Amino acid sequence: MKKLGLLGLLGAVLLGCWEPGDAIRCFDKQYEHKGKCCNRCQPGEKLVSECSDTEYSDCTRCESGHYQQSWTKERHCTPHDICEDNAGLIVKTQGNATHNTVCQCQDGMHCSDTSCQTCVENQPCQRGFGFVAAKAVDRMSSPCEPCAEGTFSNVSSKTEPCYRWTSCEEKGLVVKVKGTDSSDVICESGKRSSLSVLIPITAVVITCLVGICIYFLVHTEEGGCSCLPLTPAPLQIEEGRGNPTENQQPMEDGEDMPHVQETLLKGQPVAQEDGKESRMSEQEKL
Ligand SMILES: *[C@@H]1O[C@H](CO)[C@@H](O)[C@H](O)[C@H]1NC(C)=O
Ligand SMILES: *[C@@H]1O[C@H](CO)[C@@H](O)[C@H](O)[C@H]1NC(C)=O
Repeated sequence: MKKLGLLGLLGAVLLGCWEPGDAIRCFDKQYEHKGKCCNRCQPGEKLVSECSDTEYSDCTRCESGHYQQSWTKERHCTPHDICEDNAGLIVKTQGNATHNTVCQCQDGMHCSDTSCQTCVENQPCQRGFGFVAAKAVDRMSSPCEPCAEGTFSNVSSKTEPCYRWTSCEEKGLVVKVKGTDSSDVICESGKRSSLSVLIPITAVVITCLVGICIYFLVHTEEGGCSCLPLTPAPLQIEEGRGNPTENQQPMEDGEDMPHVQETLLKGQPVAQEDGKESRMSEQEKL
């Protein structure tokens, strides 16, 4: 190091001789002093005295607890930062002659602002926010982050991260209630839901079949006779609560048949009468 500095100085002196007067050009690690190029002090040192015609710059190590980071002509080193315990700070890396001490917040705390002169206690991450371990290690900001789409946190906690929504598909189920940032997806059995769709469809289909049957009964008088005994039974299935016992049949027949016929055979009072008459005779037979 010293030898390199010597060479530099020599070069600078030579250059200085080439260009006498005001315009002196010194190397990077030198500075101009009284028309001469003096060496700067290296990182970790400070200047004691400028160079002269006979002497190089005199540098000395920074005193303990101080640092000096660059090539300098300063006569003072800078004191290390002190990590104030009552500001919540602790030493992250101890300083030396060339580097400042770096402080960080104590465990469970984070910087109150970007300058990080003081620390504040971590608050529990609220519902919809999750604890992020990397941010907690960093201690620069709150370790809580909003739960991203597809994740949730339903507790206020200093340790719980956001968890992924349950996958109903993986469980062979279907989504009943969508998830939010603070609640999980709620699944339900897929079979049940298909049943709940099937039942009304079946009911509708049966109703239609019955309707069609009645239609043909009414329009083809001869066919009507052969088909008639079947009509009361399908009607009971359509009702759902039907109880195919003999003693209920007359009641339901009397109540429901005209109603169904009214909707299906609008504007055909004659046909309706016919249907009633033939059914009456059927009931009498039973
Ligand atoms: C001084 O500290 C810095 C950063 O902590 C490190 O990189 C460097 O090696 C240290 N220097 C000495 C001489 O210990
Ligand atoms: C949070 O969600 C989990 C998973 O859905 C559930 O087991 C737990 O009971 C919920 N806790 C609260 C406080 O809602």
